[in-house]
Amino acid sequence: MLFRPRPVARVLRRISITSRRQSTDALLPSRSNYAEVLGSRYPTDSATNITPAIISKLPLRLHTKPDHPLNTLRTKIESHYADFAHLSSFSPLVTPFKNFDELAFPADHPGRSVTDSYYVNRDLMLRTHTSAHEVEVFGQGETKWLLTADVYRRDEIDGSHYPVFHQMEGARIFDASPTGMKEVEDDNERLSYHLAQSNIIIEDIPHISPTNPSQATHDPRHSELVAKNLKLSLNSLMLTLFGGATRDEPLRVRWIEAYFPFTSPSFEVEVFFRGKWLEILGSGVVRQSTLDTAKVPNKIGWAFGLGLERIAMILFSIPDIRLFWSEDQRFLSQFTHGQINTFKPYSRYPSCFKDVSFWAPQPEGLHENDFCDLVRDVASDLVEDVKKIDSFVHPKTNRTSLCYRINYRSMDRSLSNEEVNEIQAVVVARLKDQFGVEIR
Ligand code: PHE
Repeated sequence: MLFRPRPVARVLRRISITSRRQSTDALLPSRSNYAEVLGSRYPTDSATNITPAIISKLPLRLHTKPDHPLNTLRTKIESHYADFAHLSSFSPLVTPFKNFDELAFPADHPGRSVTDSYYVNRDLMLRTHTSAHEVEVFGQGETKWLLTADVYRRDEIDGSHYPVFHQMEGARIFDASPTGMKEVEDDNERLSYHLAQSNIIIEDIPHISPTNPSQATHDPRHSELVAKNLKLSLNSLMLTLFGGATRDEPLRVRWIEAYFPFTSPSFEVEVFFRGKWLEILGSGVVRQSTLDTAKVPNKIGWAFGLGLERIAMILFSIPDIRLFWSEDQRFLSQFTHGQINTFKPYSRYPSCFKDVSFWAPQPEGLHENDFCDLVRDVASDLVEDVKKIDSFVHPKTNRTSLCYRINYRSMDRSLSNEEVNEIQAVVVARLKDQFGVEIR
């Protein structure tokens, strides 16, 4: 959670929608037995939480759109890994088994919950990360590959969080044999030589440690070499991506111990850019069970996953994550394929905020992600951010009161107060209808 509730006047604006009930009812979602997703119909059930706003994003595949900054960034990373297979057409619909179980996520991992992930139904979900395709791609016999895709996570609403974003998974595996390890050593030597010539400062940590161990089935010497190869390979990628912009000063990269269920040892990478450390990616030595499930024997290797929007916002100076979805020519015309240039913001249209205060349903309450998704579904990209500005528990009744401030702003036109009132009325109607809240 990025915000801290502040004590403010409890109800800044009371919204009455009684007179509008007729007109807004038509806009309430119909509880259909089927969801139509990417041209196919799927039965819905109690796990279904995918919304029309999200379904409409599935065909867009921004990472393949001509001239789009995400496409340029993808191509740049693909050129860095020129001899890798470049994959980018995997469907976002996966089973929870593939997204979680195959990668050894525990049964009680919070990512599995309907508050964190989108489900078409209990057996089909939107991938939450590109790692969901590791077993499949290794199983196809690929040994060096990059895979780019849209991924989906339920989240709060602000300038740097969007429920759809793009990730790139990279992986490389070697023969777990003297010949394979010689290949790793040679590659390490080549990469070390290249990095030694470059203006880069790397804060490293041990490749293996008691808290970030080699796997039981691995020869620790193999694991060391592979982790070193992963680090060298990614340091070199960071230099390609960020080196140019920091020509006068050395590029600073730091390695941090991490934990992922499907890698060990595991690492995160941060890059120091314009005065701040930015988290860029997660990575590690691939868990042997992933390769076993993929039926790839006697191999050892590494994988990483990076978020494209995060890097593109830095490289192109794009201030708001919603802009990636803009159809406005003032945004799109600023970019040409293959070119990294600084985005020049055009004037922003005024924003308009509305508050809504309500008693949460008892005893289940209302999860913030459920509130945000409802707002996103009604207002689409007209919502800029949502903040909880007050919450308290009534001392006598024990009921929880919540007040949210929804900030509306269009990227490409002025919104009238009437129009925003209409949208807000639908939000309020749906809050009552879907979650049984009592408006205060
Ligand atoms: N899938 C992880 C994430 O989304 C990143 C990752 C990829 C970590 C590959 C390790 C190996 O956070």
